[in-house]
Amino acid sequence: MSNIPKRIKIVEVGPRDGLQNEKNPLTSDIKIELINRLGQTGLPVIEAGAFVSPKWVPQMADTNQVYSHIEKKPGVSYPVLVPNQRGMELAIQAGVREIAVFAAASETFSQKNINCSIRESFERFAPVIDLAQQHDIRVRGYVSCVMGCPYEGEVSREQVLHVARTLYDMGCYEISLGDTIGVGTVPKTRAVIELVCQHVPIESVAAHFHDTYGQAIVNIYEALRMGVSVIDSSVGGLGGCPYAKGATGNVATEKVLFLLDGLGVKHGIKSAELEKISVWIKRIVRES
Ligand code: HMG
Ligand code: MG
Repeated sequence: MSNIPKRIKIVEVGPRDGLQNEKNPLTSDIKIELINRLGQTGLPVIEAGAFVSPKWVPQMADTNQVYSHIEKKPGVSYPVLVPNQRGMELAIQAGVREIAVFAAASETFSQKNINCSIRESFERFAPVIDLAQQHDIRVRGYVSCVMGCPYEGEVSREQVLHVARTLYDMGCYEISLGDTIGVGTVPKTRAVIELVCQHVPIESVAAHFHDTYGQAIVNIYEALRMGVSVIDSSVGGLGGCPYAKGATGNVATEKVLFLLDGLGVKHGIKSAELEKISVWIKRIVRES
């Protein structure tokens, strides 16, 4: 059973993937407080926002304001999403040290999410990644819809491999495999990771599960057993994607920590503190 790594890196995506989907956007002050509190828990990576079009995702329109006011703890990375050169310029001006580009394994999702085909998205990312490299900024790559698409249903695994491989070859140091609408199952998880690992080293693969059907934890367990050592999750299970109707939040960070603690796998995060932040932010979202 045990390829399970001894230590796991958690990528906290709540302030971005979580809050991008809230009907009533939280204030910048709350976002700043959320990120600062998360920064005290030992989390190594906290996604801080997205330099995307405010017309498309108004919830992320204050990313510059948020990013410039958060406390940047040494040793903690605060990546932001960047879809194009305009976003990259804003990220550079803000002093960002890590970005994430995001492609999809489904053509329709690519169109709905970033208004271009998969091939065009690579053309857009090329100058973004060039700029990032010139400024010594790390680039992570997301592949959405790896287990299924809200518009097309089944997604071809070869297409998942193609997108993951292209992003990796373009210079992304880590490839996050997104189960955008939470339709992954254990066999699908195994099949997708097996295929992607034909080209991307397992150390560079991250698992990004949404929890629509309550399968995220079993899928993560399967990914861990295969040797995946990077898990994306969202405090309180906040989230969804504005262009994937019906998809619920990411797997909750506190649930992943509970799984890891039960397995005796190290993660370096103060679970009790994280739990408190989860209760606090869920109350704020409920009341907003
Ligand atoms: P477009 O409409 O084709 O772009 O959108 P455009 O270049 O024609 O620009 C339209 C307007 O937006 C212009 O303003 C631009 O200046 C502005 P106007 O002249 O009309 O006033 N604009 C920008 N403003 C700020 N920052 C920018 C930017 N770019 C253009 N970067 C575009 C194309 C890619 C911009 C748009 O589709 C977009 O922003 N999409 C983002 C969608 C998004 O954020 N989705 C959620 C994240 S992905 C996700 O959640 C999945 C993930 O979690 C993994 C998983 O679960 O699968 C990562
Ligand atoms: Mg997501």
